[in-house]
Amino acid sequence: MKILGVVASHRYQGNSEVLVKEALMGAEEVGAKAEILRMTNYYLEPCTGCGRCQSGRIPCHIKDDFNHLLERWFSVDAIILGFPCYFLAAPGTLKLFLDRAVAVGHPSPLNGKPAAVIVPYGNRGFTAYAFVQPNILLHKFGMNIIDQALIQSGAPGDALINDKALERVHNMGKAVGMALKTGDTTFKGEKGLCPVCHDRLIHVLKDMKTVECGTCGVRGKLRLVGGKIDVLFTEEDIHHGRNSSEQWFRHHMYHVEPGKEYFRSTKELRKERRGKYSSYLPKEEKGMVVEPVTKESK
Ligand SMILES: Cc1cc2nc3c(=O)[nH]c(=O)nc-3n(C[C@H](O)[C@H](O)[C@H](O)COP(=O)(O)O)c2cc1C
Repeated sequence: MKILGVVASHRYQGNSEVLVKEALMGAEEVGAKAEILRMTNYYLEPCTGCGRCQSGRIPCHIKDDFNHLLERWFSVDAIILGFPCYFLAAPGTLKLFLDRAVAVGHPSPLNGKPAAVIVPYGNRGFTAYAFVQPNILLHKFGMNIIDQALIQSGAPGDALINDKALERVHNMGKAVGMALKTGDTTFKGEKGLCPVCHDRLIHVLKDMKTVECGTCGVRGKLRLVGGKIDVLFTEEDIHHGRNSSEQWFRHHMYHVEPGKEYFRSTKELRKERRGKYSSYLPKEEKGMVVEPVTKESK
């Protein structure tokens, strides 16, 4: 049973790395076999939105380390993902990888497998969107997130001297290891407002009654219970969120596929109108061009 600790921090042996390694030690204690992947050791270009992967030509054609990284992710049975909170959210490295993951179809080889997320951060109250990108990414791969932890540790190495935090993530690793053993991948962490991702980022829709988890697309009804705000989510509401296999299928059938037909049928019109915009204003000079570093060229 292989478990991959994925670290998305440029700080070598930083808090993310320490915390992920401690969690892996917990997982190994209950029988898992740990591996580590530092995302920042690899070169990733941004997704160019070329759409080639949508026509069934995967893996992605860009010559960088993305396909290698994907192979690593897909070769294991569980993931523990750690990254620092940057500007209230996940760092660019993770978003870059998520954007490129548009090339991955559903179900992915990680479908139904357990995952956990660890986010070290510096300042209380500056973490509102920290779990959004990992939730989208891991749910895109069909994974079941069984726990997520925000760990206060601002300066380099703070995590090393925070015994409570080390114990917290050690137990998290154990829980992921146990999920591998027993097959029970239900959420074991602190329950949040959204019944799927357990985040608290609820959008109030225009009717001022319906709310939606922006990440999962699960809708519920807002109500007051004993003077406190509460949201009622039914099983059906949960089923209609973005993350179920059926919803991924529907998204492809009713959004992606018709979009392709529209693209084909309006190609000529697009060509006709493009000239006005390509001849307007001189072309900008290119900035520094970084040559992609492939695994072979390293
Ligand atoms: C560019 C940058 C932005 C940051 N933004 C936040 C933030 O919005 N909220 C916060 O709590 N900490 C923030 N931090 C602090 C880091 O989350 C914290 O230092 C973390 O422990 C770094 O983890 P690492 O050692 O694994 O890189 C930021 C740090 C940097 C360098």
